[in-house]
Amino acid sequence: MRVRPDFTEISSLPPFPRGKMRSDYRTIYRSGTRNTPPLRVFYGLGLRLHLGDGERKRGAFAQCRFDGQLPAVAAREVLHELQAQPRSLFVLGAVGGVVGKDSWYELPPNLRPEAGLLAIRKGLNLFANLRPAYLYKELKGACPLKEEVADAGFDMIIVRELTGGLYFGERKTEEVDGVLTATDTLTYNENEIRRIAKKAFEIAMKRRKNVISVDKSNVLDSSRLWDKVVNEVAKDYPEVTLTHMLVDNCAMQLVKDPAQFDVVVTENMFGDILSDEASMITGSIGMLSSASLREDKFGLYEPSHGAAPDIAGQNKANPIATILSAAMMLRYSFDLDKEADAVEKAVEKVLEDNIRTVDIMSDGMTLVGCKEMGDEIVNRL
Ligand code: IPM
Ligand code: MG
Repeated sequence: MRVRPDFTEISSLPPFPRGKMRSDYRTIYRSGTRNTPPLRVFYGLGLRLHLGDGERKRGAFAQCRFDGQLPAVAAREVLHELQAQPRSLFVLGAVGGVVGKDSWYELPPNLRPEAGLLAIRKGLNLFANLRPAYLYKELKGACPLKEEVADAGFDMIIVRELTGGLYFGERKTEEVDGVLTATDTLTYNENEIRRIAKKAFEIAMKRRKNVISVDKSNVLDSSRLWDKVVNEVAKDYPEVTLTHMLVDNCAMQLVKDPAQFDVVVTENMFGDILSDEASMITGSIGMLSSASLREDKFGLYEPSHGAAPDIAGQNKANPIATILSAAMMLRYSFDLDKEADAVEKAVEKVLEDNIRTVDIMSDGMTLVGCKEMGDEIVNRL
């Protein structure tokens, strides 16, 4: 079977049954599984936005639950929505299920939830994925690293290229001389590398002015081009210190000395893997937000974690990653820094008040469910 990522196939699917849409708010789009946080949190945010400064900052809201093929249909719908609403923004819940168990995985790969997500990213040209990894002092106990490493703390942002590389190259599985053979291709052109490198340097200018570019240039051509282009871009940012690091070394350094990282810029698959690693050392992947941006203010905001199908529907998921994603939305798309600070502060306050979901639970803390955690955060806004 040859599967070439062909996003036009999405448009041949049946029309999407509309979820309940609040007509007065447009734009915060929610999809995903039952493990997304309580909707109320977003209503709260939507309301605040709406009451804020009128049209430009008005949020939109569609609640949708996707089953079966719907993730792929949803991708089409999101793209459609964007055309109709050029100022739309999306907060997206985690997608996915259990490979081999959920019926989604009986579908051809191009109709599975992951394909829907990749189609949204590609279709909206969201090439820059920002994944901050920050160790809250309250969660030091949940950090699996040595005490002295956790004590030093860390505050990094992984800038992951999101619309190129292996996940979007041609792939096929075929029989070669009677042997089943699978091929995936990893391609980058210099323009794709340049724009993500620029994003990373821009972000570094607002932080500690330190970029670590991660690649596998001792083996891969795509990485050698990556190096060369990143070096060229660096010339425009003389204040920023640039270091190159091989991806295997980076995986090691992340657990040895995470404090050394400020901005990490890397290609799609390395960023996928390293951002999971970085999230784990913050105590829980349930804490990690992300923003996917293109050149302008448009963005899609989603937690870095997956759908955690093993705990679906049990009110156990940590909603903080999704809530912090909404804070990133306020910051990067609406330029509402004060409001973003307020959401982040509310999250911090909840942690200071010793309220925990099960993934970050420790002795002496108060255990709450997903829904209650959402309420506690809203109460502190
Ligand atoms: C992520 C996820 C996705 C990715 C999957 C669900 C396709 O792991 O956002 O990191 O690999 O990009
Ligand atoms: Mg991932």
